[in-house]
Formats: sequence, structure tokens, C-alpha cells
Amino acid sequence: MEVKNICCIGAGYVGGPTMAVIAQKCPHINVTVVDINEKRIAAWNDKDLSKLPVYEPGLDKVVEEARGRNLFFSTAVDEAIDKADMIFISVNTPTKTYGKGKGMAADLKYIELCARQIARVSKSDKIVVEKSTLPVRTASAIKSILDNTGNGSDVKFQILSNPEFLAEGTAVEDLLAPDRVLVGGDTSTEEGKEAMEALVSVYANWVSRDHILTTNVWSSELSKLTANAFLAQRVSSINALSELCEKTGADVNEVARAIGMDSRIGPKFLKSSVGFGGSCFQKDILNLVYIAKTYGLNEVADYWEQVITMNDHQKRRFAHNIISTLFNTVSGKKIAFLGWAFKKDTNDTRESAAIYVADELLSEQSNVAVYDPKVSEEQIYADVDYLNTRSSEENREGITVYEDAYEACKDAHAIAILTEWDEFKTYDWKKLYDQMQKPAFLFDGRGLLNIEELEEIGFVCYKIGSGKE
Ligand code: NAI
Repeated sequence: MEVKNICCIGAGYVGGPTMAVIAQKCPHINVTVVDINEKRIAAWNDKDLSKLPVYEPGLDKVVEEARGRNLFFSTAVDEAIDKADMIFISVNTPTKTYGKGKGMAADLKYIELCARQIARVSKSDKIVVEKSTLPVRTASAIKSILDNTGNGSDVKFQILSNPEFLAEGTAVEDLLAPDRVLVGGDTSTEEGKEAMEALVSVYANWVSRDHILTTNVWSSELSKLTANAFLAQRVSSINALSELCEKTGADVNEVARAIGMDSRIGPKFLKSSVGFGGSCFQKDILNLVYIAKTYGLNEVADYWEQVITMNDHQKRRFAHNIISTLFNTVSGKKIAFLGWAFKKDTNDTRESAAIYVADELLSEQSNVAVYDPKVSEEQIYADVDYLNTRSSEENREGITVYEDAYEACKDAHAIAILTEWDEFKTYDWKKLYDQMQKPAFLFDGRGLLNIEELEEIGFVCYKIGSGKE
């Protein structure tokens, strides 16, 4: 079967870039991305490409090429479902904040709503693709909803799992040249195999077939959770070592280099930092932990949960280090944050370490001054408000957002680097130093800057994992 019309439900960090690349690489397929969030869809349609709701290097060019040709963004969900022969579900699957599994399980209400809507609207056979990250065995729930809540017409559904492995900040690059594409489906029936081949053929327009893996649905669903758990585990492992390095006089970068050259370990994802953030790692590990607990596998659950415990510790440790270094009081002191996004080259702030570090400092009555090249003021306030630690008014009193890094750092007692934006490396650090209170402290949470040079200027520096005393 040849796919002619694709619909993607969810125009977020995954749905937007993924569909833009599919449309760019498959001009013969019509791709419509739909969302219930009107503001988001309007931003995807904005003539000014700098206003796209997702910032990703290179994304503006891809959207410019395909939008209006075979890539469309719309709020007309029913219409797009009706027209499509393949439907991607790319809606959010956050951690549950209520009821059973609160704080751990994935909240599948958005997925279920999509499934019910597809069942209600569909008049012809559809291939439904899980693009969202889902707990293992979700496909059977979706299948049951699709098969039992329909509109009475004799429509057949095939469910595929096609988890997305892109990393924010390099989404376009990752989509254009993925390490692998994973397609899980019902390998036991002809219809299942045909549906898998239909999706494989879409990717085969630009990805070589030996990079496209096909598996059963459950392996595919579980592989996505496992991939994120392994990646996050590497970060927590090196961060655990960073604290030990600080105590023993070792340097975590040297240790990372030494172990990374072992081909069995490899050099990637061994950079110590203020802790991982982003919408996925924590949520997906918690989900894995919850699934393990559901099956009574308590040791398995405890093993993976430790990755989160270590990450929380690393964020708190960074904040407490700022407080203790500044003579045990930050009350009334301006602390400048360079960076708020959870990593460079994205405007996504979900679970960013900066939010938690700011929260600790605000509780100590510090004045937090934030500069980030891509994150809006509104988003920064929304992020701290979401924690519910104090009132919205108090958060606005405690945090000031700047559009200029030099202004943010003026009269500050300390600068903290929370995101590894490249532009921070190009700043005139002597000028920044001259404008600060003395002693001028610098806490590099990302191992971004040349500490020796900064110390020569006069900064008192803290670098994670460097035990030089
Ligand atoms: P997001 O929150 O940026 O986007 C989800 C969108 O779905 C929102 O715009 C929301 O309005 C829309 N939506 C929700 N319910 C809807 C409905 N019933 N009808 C129409 N639209 C609806 O989320 P993001 O980051 O794109 O993540 C989506 C999924 O992809 C999640 O399951 C996530 O775990 C997974 N994922 C995310 C990655 C990332 O880097 N952000 C990477 C790989 C997977």
C-alpha cells in the first residue's frame, strides 16, 4: 500500500520537526499536522519563520521549503483524520499528577482522546502510528478503543509503534540522518506486515533500509523507554563521579576522557553537568520504574529510580554550593543565570535544571536575574510558578528576566551557567567582571568556559567535578 496522505496529531517538539522532514523528503505525500492549541498552529503558519513555536537549528529552512506545498498546519483535526491513510499520534504523555501511579506513570489521557477521535471520525482503513513515547503494551489499549468505539462503519485499523529518537537541539540533523528508525507492528499477520512496509517505505525515501529496524510492537515500545533510561544513566553515572572528584582532587573531565577511550564504554554522554533536564528522561525512567513495580519487580524499579535520585541530588548540590560559597547567605544578592533552556539550541525548558536551582535560591531570598537567548520571560515565570513553591507574585519579585546578558550580570555577586549556549563563550568576560560585585563568583554548571582565563581576570570559579583544593 502506498501512503498518500499523512495526518499527525500533535504539533509539538516531535510532531512539528518530524513531519516537516517527512514532507521535505516525500514531496509526493501530503502531510497535515493538527493540534488543538490554536496559538501553536498559528505560530507554525507564521510568515515570519523566527516565530515558529519550536526553535531548532535548520528547522526554518525545512518548513520554508515544504509549507504550503505538501506540509500543512491546521486545527481541523477531524478533517485531517478523515483524509489520511496514515495517522501519527504525537501528543504529550506527561507523568501523571493525580490518582494511581501519580508522579510515576505516564498520563495516557491525551492518547486515549486521540484514539477515540480517530475511531469516531474514520470512514476508511487507517494505519495508526504511535509516535509518542508510550508504556509497553499501550498499542493493545489503542487497538481496543479503535475496534470498539467506532462509528459503526467497517473500518480496519493497524497499530504501529514508531518511537522518535531525535534529540532536541539537533532534531533536524537527527531526522535527516537517524542512527536507526524503529518500526514495531503485528508481525504475525499479513495486514500487520503490510502496514509496517507502508511506513518503512515512507522513511526509505531518505533513510537506507539497513537503518530501519522492524520488531514486534512491544519490543519497539520498550526500546524507547530503555534508550532514554540508558542515556540518562550515563549522565547520572558521570555526575555521581563528579562529586567524588571534587573531594579527592581528581578531575571529572580527565576521568571521562580516560574511560571514554575504552571502546566498550565510548566517549559520548560523559559530560558532567548541573544535571539532565528535558521533557523525556525523567518522565520515561519514572514510567519504566512504574511498569517494573506493576509487575512486582522491585529491584528492577529501585535500580532505575536511582538515576533520578542522583540527578535531583546534582541539581540541589549545585544550588547549595552557590549558597555556601557566597558566605552562606544569598539573601538580597543578585545571582545572574546565563541560560534557562534545558540544553543549548532549543527553546524547550521542561524539567530544566535552571528551574530547580532558581527555586532553591529564591527560597533563600536571592534576586535571580535570568538571560536566555531563546526563552521568553513568560515561559520562565510559568516554569517557576509550576513548582508551586510560592505565589506567582513572589516569583515575579524574586526573578527578573533580561534581554541582554551584560545587563543581567551587572552588579551581580555571582554568575551561574545553566545552559551551554555557544554565545556565552564569546562574551567579553573582563567587561562582565568589571561590572560585578567583588569577589565575583562564577559557577559553571556546564563545563563550558575556560576557567583558567576567567581566574586570571579575577573571577572566583567553581567547575563541577574539579577537585583542585
Ligand atoms: P509537546 O507537548 O511539545 O506537543 C504535544 C502537542 O500535542 C501539544 O501541542 C498539544 O496541544 C497537542 N495535543 C494534545 N492532545 C491533543 C489532541 N487530542 N488533539 C490534538 N492535539 C493534541 O510534546 P512533545 O515534546 O512533542 O512530545 C510528544 C511525544 O513525543 C511525547 O510522548 C514524548 O515523550 C515523545 N518524545 C519527545 C521527544 C522530545 O525531545 N521532546 C523526543 C522523542 C519522543
